[in-house]
Amino acid sequence: MEEKIIDEKKQGQALTLEPKEENSRKLYIESYGCQMNFSDSEIVASILADEGFNTTNKLEDADLVLVNTCSIRDKAEQSVRKRLEKYNAVKRKNPKMKVGVLGCMAERLKDKFLDEEKIVDMVVGPDAYKDLPNLVKEIEAGRDAVNVILSKEETYGDISPVRLGTNGINALVSITRGCDNMCTFCVVPFTRGRERSRDPQSILSEIQDLAEKGYKEVTLLGQNVDSYLWYGGGLKKEFKNASEMQKATATNFSQLLSLVAEAHPKMRIRFSTSNPQDMTLDVIHTMAKYPNICNHIHLPVQSGSTRILKEMNRQHTREEYIQLIDAVREIIPDCGISQDIITGFPTETDEDHRDTLSLMEYVKYDFGYMFKYSERPGTMAARKLEDDIPEAIKKQRLTEIVDLQLEHSAYRTHQFVGKTVEVLIEKESKKSDAHWSGRNPQSTVTVFPKEHYRPGDFVLVQVEDCTGATLIGNAIGFSENN
Ligand code: 5AD
Ligand code: SF4
Repeated sequence: MEEKIIDEKKQGQALTLEPKEENSRKLYIESYGCQMNFSDSEIVASILADEGFNTTNKLEDADLVLVNTCSIRDKAEQSVRKRLEKYNAVKRKNPKMKVGVLGCMAERLKDKFLDEEKIVDMVVGPDAYKDLPNLVKEIEAGRDAVNVILSKEETYGDISPVRLGTNGINALVSITRGCDNMCTFCVVPFTRGRERSRDPQSILSEIQDLAEKGYKEVTLLGQNVDSYLWYGGGLKKEFKNASEMQKATATNFSQLLSLVAEAHPKMRIRFSTSNPQDMTLDVIHTMAKYPNICNHIHLPVQSGSTRILKEMNRQHTREEYIQLIDAVREIIPDCGISQDIITGFPTETDEDHRDTLSLMEYVKYDFGYMFKYSERPGTMAARKLEDDIPEAIKKQRLTEIVDLQLEHSAYRTHQFVGKTVEVLIEKESKKSDAHWSGRNPQSTVTVFPKEHYRPGDFVLVQVEDCTGATLIGNAIGFSENN
């Protein structure tokens, strides 16, 4: 996936929700990795709330400790391993406490955690959360429990997730699970299984519920949202055969976007992640048509070299990517665009690296997430290609692309100075308790004096200054969206 990395601050923090009075057991749940994991943890907390668990952010108080894990890079797995050591240290003092691993590492390492390492009581893969009530009973009876079966259907569409650590303003709504792309570096198709789309009606009803609770922004989530496709209902007798019916009644991503945008004209809509080869002009036109769909696309490129893109099994060339960027800029001139880039992929030459820098120069991304290549066991790249770029070169190249991105982010924030932007207030600014912080549609963080405004307000902000990543201004009034 091109998983957008969640706010660093939330990584590994135990997030909680309002307790239910009738619940007596305590769940401590920590999440690592992408937004999808954070969204999944809400599904898990929701399932366990029905099993008598309230959440706690005190590890020592927990009856059950769960960690939702990420396998995307070795570093992500190492952070989780450190946490497992910590949980086990606490467990030694409180032997009744049970520890479970969820998510991608659970799927990748399966019963190794139980049998060889003996560091957990329960292992649950991303498609097995509905089995948690049974699995928890097993561990409470003193037996190890494991379910890492991947599903072709599970979308958790019927679970209405609780919201963990929420500000009551922004929410994540998952629309697809899994990934069929098979980029050669990526472990996700192995840990999250085949791609499947969720019923649009269940997506709409989840968003309706959020709207009723006062939420102002939803992010539609999937490893590859542009390939969303739901084969809808319809009466068979109206069509010649099932496949004709499926085609006629299908909902694709741009149609889903229109459905959501029309149902909730005051709700801000974001989505992540887009894949260049699957992003259609229809999607871009739909974004342009509805003012409540934010003008921001997270469009990972991974490399600017067509040769490397081919080795990565990305289904696009440098030129096709550039064409897509040109189309976005033509249809939505003020669209924010962000990237993911991997540096030091096997066989990457200086020339390939320069291609990445020149592509960045062309796009001038608003922001991005850049990584050194990390070989993942079992992936096509690990099987076929030697991880041959020395660490020092990976590091050097990463520094160069990060530095260039910093320049471009500063260039982009400067473009907003003197302009008025609409900001949805999310929270207090990290640096000053006299300022609010929110984002403009392009997803650039904007801070301004609080005055009489409140979190959840849509405010027009006159941008007066900026740093490399943040806009600084003054509110000039509520926007029409309020
Ligand atoms: N090594 C480094 N980065 C990776 N990503 C995915 N797999 C790897 C890997 N093996 C990056 C990609 C993806 C983002 C979520 O993580 O850039 O878009
Ligand atoms: Fe993203 Fe490619 Fe991995 Fe799918 S295989 S999750 S598209 S990086």
